[in-house]
Amino acid sequence: PFPVYARLREEDPVHWSPSLKSWIVTRYTDVRDLLLSDTLSVNRLLQFYQSLPPADALLLKDIVRYLNLWLAFRDPPDHTRVRRIMRHAFTADAIAEMRPRIEDISDLLLDRLAAAGTKDVDLIKEYALQLPAFVIMDLLDVPRDMLDDFKDWSDDMAVFIGGARNSEDKYERAARGCRNMSTYFRKLIEERTAHPKPGFLMDLINARDEGDKLSDDELVATCILVLFAGHETTTNLIGNATLLLLRNPDELSKLRADPDLIDTTIEEVLRFDGPTNALVRVVAKDHDFHGRKLREGERVFVMVNSANRDPQMFDDADSFDITRKQNRHLTFGQGIHLCLGAKLAREEGRIAIRKLFDRFPDLALDAENPPEWLDAMVPRGTRRLPVKLEG
Ligand code: HEM
Repeated sequence: PFPVYARLREEDPVHWSPSLKSWIVTRYTDVRDLLLSDTLSVNRLLQFYQSLPPADALLLKDIVRYLNLWLAFRDPPDHTRVRRIMRHAFTADAIAEMRPRIEDISDLLLDRLAAAGTKDVDLIKEYALQLPAFVIMDLLDVPRDMLDDFKDWSDDMAVFIGGARNSEDKYERAARGCRNMSTYFRKLIEERTAHPKPGFLMDLINARDEGDKLSDDELVATCILVLFAGHETTTNLIGNATLLLLRNPDELSKLRADPDLIDTTIEEVLRFDGPTNALVRVVAKDHDFHGRKLREGERVFVMVNSANRDPQMFDDADSFDITRKQNRHLTFGQGIHLCLGAKLAREEGRIAIRKLFDRFPDLALDAENPPEWLDAMVPRGTRRLPVKLEG
């Protein structure tokens, strides 16, 4: 998509796409300014919900009820209140405590790969997907043997949230996924409340600000949000980082020579090929933007991955340079919705990549099986990343 972004930045930075029936914003300063302004809203569900035929609306009642409580889909003042409460569970200390567990998970998965005795693996399926899933499940106190159930339920829900795959029974699936997921978390929260055990979930249950706390529904919704927000994005970070390093052997050599470069390496992966192409908004009130008339209710794709390649902001923007200093990418968003899990995601990325290349120094792309990219507007990553573990 990057050549298309470059053309749009040059020729039509606030572009109306008739096929998507949406605005596409591609320049760094515009992306940043829009994310910081209150002219756009994140609450895009209500309008969609109101347009549904009654039978579908009934089916989706529950899922929409929970999603409407997601921090990511709420505008101030509700967003302000919920974020203020939630930040007590997302402290730097709470995340730093995760480090040894992330290392254990990474070792466990790499041990499994080494023991399997096969050289050819899909790195997404066997590593990049499982690592963040286990981290988030540990964080939420969900036993690891629930992985397959969780994967099924979130795939079912993703039919609705991602909107990428179309199938006849998509709303039934989404409703079922949400029912399973919310029932599971509701029970877990009840159990933890009755038998407290320190950790992130307990912090979330206890999180209070000025006496205010999360309601029961908000707690369930937040568990589901953390599971979603922290999962596919981090998988794509690990996948994209592996692919970029294997395709840029000079950069990989620099990292091998100086392992402290891992911090700037992960930042550069986040900038150069970040896990989310776009953030989605709706216009909150009619206004002019660079001479274009944005009308209330219209959808806007705010293209962070294009902003991150804007030559007005980054020197040599199209080159992948793991020593890059000034790297103010917008991959974790900007403004009030700035990613709450950014510290955790960075930590996971650093550990996953360092340990992978340490354990398999001859790791290489599979020349006969090229990576398969996801075909979607929002997530950016590979569906399959075939590699050879040994030369
Ligand atoms: C919000 C990116 C990992 C939790 C966001 C937003 C972005 C983002 C761009 C803002 C969305 C918007 O403005 O519409 C990423 C990326 C990740 C990642 C690229 C991995 C590389 C995580 C993890 C967690 C997490 C691991 C949790 C454990 C959240 C939450 C929000 C959020 C709770 C909502 C914040 C709000 O609306 O105030 N993320 N994220 N994210 N992220 Fe992340």
